Amino acid sequence: MILQQLTLPTSSTVSEKTSRARMAITLVLLLVLLLLLPVTRALAQEQQQQQQQPTQHVVQPGCRDKCGNITIPYPFGIGAGCFRDDGRGGFQLLCEDSLPVPRLTVADYGIQITGLSISTGEAQASLNASRHCYNSKGGIISQGGPVAVPIVKTNLLFSATKNSLVVLGCPSLGYLNDVAGYYVSGCMAMCQPQKFNASGSCTGVACCQSTIPSGVDYYQPSLLDMPKNKGDPIFYGKSTTCRYVFLVETEWLSTGYTGENFNRTDDFAVPVVLDWAVRSVRNCRAARRNETKYACQSTVSQCVNSRNGAGYRCECSKGYEGNPYLEDGCKGIHRYRSCCNWNITQLLSHLAKCPLSFYHFCLML
Ligand SMILES: *[C@@H]1O[C@H](CO)[C@@H](O)[C@H](O)[C@H]1NC(C)=O
Ligand SMILES: *[C@@H]1O[C@H](CO)[C@@H](O)[C@H](O)[C@H]1NC(C)=O
Ligand SMILES: *[C@@H]1O[C@H](CO)[C@@H](O)[C@H](O)[C@H]1NC(C)=O
Ligand SMILES: *[C@@H]1O[C@H](CO)[C@@H](O)[C@H](O)[C@H]1NC(C)=O
Ligand SMILES: *[C@@H]1O[C@H](CO)[C@@H](O)[C@H](O)[C@H]1NC(C)=O
Ligand SMILES: *[C@@H]1O[C@H](CO)[C@@H](O)[C@H](O)[C@H]1NC(C)=O
Repeated sequence: MILQQLTLPTSSTVSEKTSRARMAITLVLLLVLLLLLPVTRALAQEQQQQQQQPTQHVVQPGCRDKCGNITIPYPFGIGAGCFRDDGRGGFQLLCEDSLPVPRLTVADYGIQITGLSISTGEAQASLNASRHCYNSKGGIISQGGPVAVPIVKTNLLFSATKNSLVVLGCPSLGYLNDVAGYYVSGCMAMCQPQKFNASGSCTGVACCQSTIPSGVDYYQPSLLDMPKNKGDPIFYGKSTTCRYVFLVETEWLSTGYTGENFNRTDDFAVPVVLDWAVRSVRNCRAARRNETKYACQSTVSQCVNSRNGAGYRCECSKGYEGNPYLEDGCKGIHRYRSCCNWNITQLLSHLAKCPLSFYHFCLML
């Protein structure tokens, strides 16, 4: 049966010499394949997928895969039986279709989701900045934005590596508290006297930033109001009417903040990155103990421990991509087909690019 597969597609343009070289390579590949017998299970799966259409399989059968233009990959899902239900929130989503632009939110938490990624284990959220606006005496005249942002007891956490705390407007001391009232992060934005202009970057003049620790699942944004009568006139020299405190994707400071829009009075939403993982158990070792609850369902996938907080994520094995949380979710990467056209010298020098476990692919071309 395998010998039949050895018959190569010899086009008229391929010289006899190349053809013989190809045959030699194929024989080597066959040996490699025989040495890697465990791969044959994946091979069978691969062949099956080849015969079927290679449609991207991201959701449980019968479940919605989109809300507006946002793709919802399992373990996330909308409706009973469509998301991974392990007693923690986060994977169950809601889609408000009646709005002009459908809105995707985390069920029971109301956090708006704008993107989900299986490969990075990140979710993009959209959250409003918290705002205080003051009169000429420094008293609050209006405020807006969230008082607290909880994602406690979910499979989500605020990313410590991708987000920053930002305070916009001045003079202002902004900070975040956790659920028990403990300080999480904070910074102070000063104003400059009239003779100076604020610098472009967020370095403490009209805008300041700070990092947050990992493991944050709740924050309460706060601004310390500074009564004007107590301050030095220079301190208030170039003050802004409204001041903001918020968590935001650090990248926003270079894409959404120009250094000029610190003097604003509107309510606005900013992007925030969430790290998601299967957090019902501590790590991969604990997860493998219970096969029925183990999330990495694809035979060509592996488990990786969460980098932020407890839990684990799944990854397709090298040479595959797709959704490792579904039984047949990982697909062979087609760019590896080019590996099959290489001669033996090239092949040996590209072992890293063309993983050994993938050479069975060449036999099927
Ligand atoms: C999805 O739709 C929104 C709003 O219409 C748009 O801003 C965004 O660029 C779209 N995203 C993609 C990936 O098409
Ligand atoms: C401050 O910026 C404004 C507007 O960009 C400009 O007109 C002004 O000359 C600047 N002042 C100083 C002192 O650089
Ligand atoms: C902010 O804007 C208000 C209203 O446009 C203006 O009166 C004030 O001088 C501005 N403040 C700074 C620091 O630019
Ligand atoms: C959030 O900001 C948007 C503008 O981006 C605004 O329309 C909306 O009313 C705000 N929501 C809240 C709850 O403040
Ligand atoms: C595995 O998980 C299932 C479903 O929650 C549970 O019924 C079963 O008792 C667990 N088994 C072990 C060995 O923990
Ligand atoms: C393999 O291909 C490279 C680049 O085309 C060539 O330089 C080399 O001589 C070839 N080696 C063999 C054994 O054919």
